[in-house]
Amino acid sequence: CGIIGYVGKSPALIVLLQGLERLEYRGYDSAGVALIENGRIFVEKKVGKIRELVRSLWGKSLNATVGIGHTRWATHGEPCEINAHPHTDTTGEIAVVHNGIIENYRELKEKLQAQGIEFKSQTDTEVIAHLISKHYRGDLLSAVMEIMPMLKGSYAFAVITSKEPYRIVGVRNGNPLVVGIGEGENFLASDIPAILPFTRHIIPISDGEIVDLRVDGVDIYDAEGNRLVKDVISVPWDIISAEKGGFKHFMLKEIFEQPRTVGDTIKGYISRDYILPFKLREFRRIILLACGTSYHAGLVGSYWISKYLQVPVEVMYASEFRYADIPVDDRDLVIAISQSGETADTRYSALSAKERGATVISLVNVMGSALDRESDYTLYTHAGPEIGVAATKTFTSQLAVLYSLSVSQLPNRDEYMEKLSAVPNMMEEVLGNAENVKKVALKYTNKKNMLYLGRYLSYPVALEGALKLKEISYIHAEGYPAGEMKHGPIALIDENMPVVVVAPKDRVYEKTLSNIEEVLTRKGIVISVGFAGDERLKSMSKDFIGIPSVDEDLSPFLTVIPLQLFAYYIADHLGLDVDQPRNLAKTVTVE
Ligand code: G6P
Repeated sequence: CGIIGYVGKSPALIVLLQGLERLEYRGYDSAGVALIENGRIFVEKKVGKIRELVRSLWGKSLNATVGIGHTRWATHGEPCEINAHPHTDTTGEIAVVHNGIIENYRELKEKLQAQGIEFKSQTDTEVIAHLISKHYRGDLLSAVMEIMPMLKGSYAFAVITSKEPYRIVGVRNGNPLVVGIGEGENFLASDIPAILPFTRHIIPISDGEIVDLRVDGVDIYDAEGNRLVKDVISVPWDIISAEKGGFKHFMLKEIFEQPRTVGDTIKGYISRDYILPFKLREFRRIILLACGTSYHAGLVGSYWISKYLQVPVEVMYASEFRYADIPVDDRDLVIAISQSGETADTRYSALSAKERGATVISLVNVMGSALDRESDYTLYTHAGPEIGVAATKTFTSQLAVLYSLSVSQLPNRDEYMEKLSAVPNMMEEVLGNAENVKKVALKYTNKKNMLYLGRYLSYPVALEGALKLKEISYIHAEGYPAGEMKHGPIALIDENMPVVVVAPKDRVYEKTLSNIEEVLTRKGIVISVGFAGDERLKSMSKDFIGIPSVDEDLSPFLTVIPLQLFAYYIADHLGLDVDQPRNLAKTVTVE
């Protein structure tokens, strides 16, 4: 879900709608705004995309200069207009937008109902509006502070009241919230990109903090009501980089940006400045924690870490790590990988390792995000904002950081970094072949299933390729280690099954070719990604996509690109919403 708030001198609605559009990628089954219009709260909400909301607002003259907005990804209560945010209290004088979950809302709701309060929706959010209303005695800030201890769970919310038509009060407790500082106007949002068109001056809010946002200033308090002095950070991202720049979709633009974003990321690690104040080899174990695409980057990284650092390494889905009894202590190094830095599973698993004494490094793309602030050290991926829900450029930037880190303390580190520095140009070459990938992709748009295979570093790439296809084209795809296929998935292979094989000329090349033979014997359709000019591989494949020859350890930077494009072109051909696939959200702050 996404939150946006505005207080200033301009019409709030314009800011809110623009912000909501930029938040839409986080979750989007409904959207709404609340404005303080002529001393009264005006609420408009709609199921569906922001454009539905915009349509319903057409022709209405709304000049309010204070307002809040929300895009919702349903957790409590089905997506419908009643459950969409903002939610109001009984008097209609208080409106709230909220992300996250109030875990004890049932209990609170029953209490309020026993006092005669009628609920309009099934959401947990509505209790916040009623509670504030009950505790309101002329000062919104005090009312919010009073009710905070009653709320259990992880959340962020913003509230306005028509009785104080000049302020927004916001709270962060487990879900992201940032303040944007403008001139004669101030902003509140769950995500930096939402307010980037208006300001680059940001104050990240920490858990347990309360924001009082007014036209003339912003005050931030801790839970005890002490006023805090917070730093304002200037976001270096150029606004233009958050626009589509002529591409049909953000995802396609982001795929094409990769030579630059990987280059930018490498630049951040080429000098020795960032070097960590400890020896990586001295840890008894390195544990990589992540979800989704970031997990696949972690898997690639694990091969590099074991090879170059010779430290035992484990990679786990954060959601699995958290509830497994994994012994962790101060001899362990945890690397938490998360593009957004806000994924709940990743955050909480890293926090639990930290509590037990582990050193935590986070690898995030969003400066000021929760993980950034909660870890002992942060390594940034300088990929710029990623808007497409399916991660692409953040994946390759994560790879760049993980490779740099794996070699960072080797005596011949510079040689490795030099090799890595050649990668962006090679990625450019791969992208030059996009039309060919498109031609191949368009032959497979009617398939219902696909298998993706690879060994060694191409195994995580196969997983990532399959994930991309699932996410945006809704075609079932399974990634598997090529050598493991004979123990199960081989049963699926027949003349209808496309099998995408990632086969660069590396240490397992011959083995992979044997696995292709196994597929061919069962009449499977082989689509391969391999080194350009590899006639042997080509002769075994129905379709072949060539990439430049590259050092075996760097191959994932190149092999993943055709797989991203392959998924993109199929989904686009099917007319699907590539940037905002159904049921998915960019940042998942529920467990
Ligand atoms: C969501 C997104 C995925 C992403 C995953 C992890 O599920 O849809 O694209 O890989 O979260 O996100 P993170 O921000 O932690 O890297």
